[in-house]
Amino acid sequence: MEERRVTGTGPRTQDGIDTSRPHPARVYDWFLGGKDNYPVDEELGRSIAAIDAGAPRAARANRAFMHRATRALAAEQGVRQFLDIGTGIPTEPNLHQIAQSVAPDARVVYVDNDPIVLAHASALLRGTPEGVTEYVQADARDPGSILERAARVLDLDRPVALSLIALLHFVADEDGARDLVGTLVGALAPGSFLVLSTMTADFEPENVRKGIAAYAAGGVTLVARSHAEVGAFFQGLDLLEPGIVPVARWRSEDAPDGPVSLYGGVARKP
Ligand SMILES: C[S@@+](CC[C@H](N)C(=O)[O-])C[C@H]1O[C@@H](n2cnc3c(N)ncnc32)[C@H](O)[C@@H]1O
Repeated sequence: MEERRVTGTGPRTQDGIDTSRPHPARVYDWFLGGKDNYPVDEELGRSIAAIDAGAPRAARANRAFMHRATRALAAEQGVRQFLDIGTGIPTEPNLHQIAQSVAPDARVVYVDNDPIVLAHASALLRGTPEGVTEYVQADARDPGSILERAARVLDLDRPVALSLIALLHFVADEDGARDLVGTLVGALAPGSFLVLSTMTADFEPENVRKGIAAYAAGGVTLVARSHAEVGAFFQGLDLLEPGIVPVARWRSEDAPDGPVSLYGGVARKP
C-alpha cells in the first residue's frame, strides 16, 4: 500500500488519468460492479470490502437512493432542472435517465472533478431530444464557478434539485464543506431541493474507522459525520419525510441485509 501512496508522477493515460493511485470514482465503480476502474482501484476496493463487507452494499444502496430521490422530485414535486455534483462514472440508469423518464424535458447539469468521469461523460450526454444534459468538469470546492457554468443551461430563477450524493465525505469541514453547500443552496430559487448523502460512523464505528484508514493509505481523505452534523447541512431547509435516515431506508420498502453507513435526506428550500 505504501509504495502506491500519492506521488502524482505515476503512469497516466492520454486523458490525464493517474492509474498509479486509487480514485474515489473508480473505487465506487468497482463496488457497483462497473468496468471503468484500474487494478489499483480494485485492490483498494477489495481491502475495504475485506474490512467492511457492508461497503459494496452501501454503494448500491446509495445509488438506489439517488434513483428514488430523483424520481420523487421529478414525479411528485415537478422539478425539471437538476444540478448533480460528484456525478461519478456513468452507471445506468444515470440521473438524467431517471428524471427524463418522468419528464422528457428535464435539464440536467453534471459536475465532477475526476478526469475519468470526463472521459466517460459522453454516456451522460445521451438524453432525450426535448431535454438537455451537460457535463462540467469542476471542483465542488469552487461553487461560484459551478453556478456560473450551470446557469448557462439551467434557469436559476426557477427551482433546481441540487444533488450532492456521496460527495461530501470527500470534503472536510476545514475544506469548506458547510460553506460550499451554503453557497450553492443560497443561489437557488425558493422551491429548490437539496438531495444529500454522506458517510457516517454512527452504526459501525470500528469498520468505518478502518475503512477511512484504508482510503487514507491509498491517498484518499474521507470524513464520517454524525446525524447532527449531517443535519447541519440542511439548516434553513424543510426536510421531506422521512428526514435524515440511512440511505437504504429513505422511502424504501426493501430492508437492507445489514447496516448502511451513509445518511441521506432530501429537503426543500422555502
Ligand atoms: C462515490 S462517487 C458518487 C457518485 C454518484 N454521486 C452516486 O452517488 O452514485 C463520488 C464522486 O464525487 C467526486 N468528487 C469527489 N470530490 C470532488 C470534488 N471536490 N469536486 C467534484 N467532484 C468530486 C468523485 O470524483 C466521484 O466521482
